[in-house]
Amino acid sequence: MRRILIINGPNLNMLGTRQPEIYGRETLADIENACRNKAAGLGVEIECFQSNGEGEIVTAVQRARGKFDAIVINPAAYSHTSVAIMDALLAYDGAVIEVHLSNIHRRDEFRRLSYVSKAADGVICGLGKQGYLLAVEAAASLIDRE
Ligand code: DQA
Repeated sequence: MRRILIINGPNLNMLGTRQPEIYGRETLADIENACRNKAAGLGVEIECFQSNGEGEIVTAVQRARGKFDAIVINPAAYSHTSVAIMDALLAYDGAVIEVHLSNIHRRDEFRRLSYVSKAADGVICGLGKQGYLLAVEAAASLIDRE
């Protein structure tokens, strides 16, 4: 069975009430459930993890080695600051898809740089929940290609 780990970073546990004009009204649970349905349709297994802590995300990536064939990650604010998460992903041997709900290129200048992108096979941004579903689909097909 193909296995995908979905990682969400800081403040994404607040989706639904957090700046809904930017991030929408759906909660993280809504997004995770939609990903589970998508995964079931594709015949892949997913596990979802959210943390507000950089170190916990690094540990989750390290533990994914040998257990998950791909990682879909929205590192949230850590995208723009975390060499540690980038390094953990560079050491990970499966496919990596980076997702952002908002279009990070249309917002503050500092959001335009993502360190994590250096470790990603693909990046999807600006499509809200749909971006996660496309990421699951892309991850599943990258696994098949490898
Ligand atoms: C985000 C974009 C980041 O710049 C921001 O810090 C987030 C969410 C997004 O999904 O659009 O927390 O990753």
